[in-house]
Amino acid sequence: MPFPATRMRRLRRSGLLRDMVRETELSASHLALPMFVELGTDSRTPIAAMPGVDRLSISHAVEEAGRAHALGVPAVLLFGIPADKDLQGSGAYDDEGVVALAVRAIKDAHPELVVMTDVCLCGYTSHGHCGVVRPDGDVDNDITLELLAKTAICHARAGADAVAPSDMMDGRVGALRAQLDAEDHKDTTIVAYSAKFASAFYGPFREAAGSAPAFGDRRTYQLDPANGDEAVREALLDVEEGADVVMVKPALAYLDVIRRVKDEVRVPVAAYHVSGEYAMLEAAAANGWIDRRAAVLEALTSIRRAGADIVFSYHAPEVAEWLR
Ligand code: PBG
Repeated sequence: MPFPATRMRRLRRSGLLRDMVRETELSASHLALPMFVELGTDSRTPIAAMPGVDRLSISHAVEEAGRAHALGVPAVLLFGIPADKDLQGSGAYDDEGVVALAVRAIKDAHPELVVMTDVCLCGYTSHGHCGVVRPDGDVDNDITLELLAKTAICHARAGADAVAPSDMMDGRVGALRAQLDAEDHKDTTIVAYSAKFASAFYGPFREAAGSAPAFGDRRTYQLDPANGDEAVREALLDVEEGADVVMVKPALAYLDVIRRVKDEVRVPVAAYHVSGEYAMLEAAAANGWIDRRAAVLEALTSIRRAGADIVFSYHAPEVAEWLR
């Protein structure tokens, strides 16, 4: 052979060399921790399909958020478990509801921590759909928009730094932005779940939030897992409507979508490593089938490599601890 074979291994010979040429950085500063908050005093309710994650009463949520913050995790994302559910999801926009109370308590205790809230009705409606259901069984887009805007205002008023609409109604980002601006919440950030797929990987979350649809499914509003072009289009639309950050969700089965969205938009991109992805790693690790720590770090690094600026992960505090 006239030339020596290209020796790719030269740069892999030592840890220091590998560190020098590493292309993707995983650090706590890019992570956000989703949390489930319930009413009640001093309660922690385990979630069977998410070992290590509990539904927390507000006092515990304040503590947990503080722990994450101390470890370098800059943000939390709150999901509320209301006392009651009804057809209009009125718990979602109750100023004395669980999320409003939790936001106030967390911001009081940890003013610098970025507090984001999930804006959707599915955890608050008796039928478990993400909006108001019409007599024909479909979710009414435009009536739902009004309730989502009310929800965002309620969270902003409580002190949320960012609202994250996850309902997938058309026009919600524009509706939220208009309402927030009109009510003097111009600095409230919108983190839009733009490319949210109708995924089987939300199963454990629905157990946690008690939000599984009582009938039908979410395929008339969430994206078909087969569609990448449509995901990019959704992200572009949300940017046009005023999204500050766009999100792809789930993450690992949609790394190509994360990359495509990253290449198309000029706003930060987030990805959500969802409950089912968490559960798969935990189940395999609990059986001794994978090295838990290595697998979690590899999964989150891959999501960053695909193009995510921000990664939502239930593993965030632990990963932050590992990376210290
Ligand atoms: C609410 C919502 C869901 C998730 C985040 N926001 C569930 C759903 O759409 O059914 C899933 C998060 C996860 O699985 O970790 N619309």
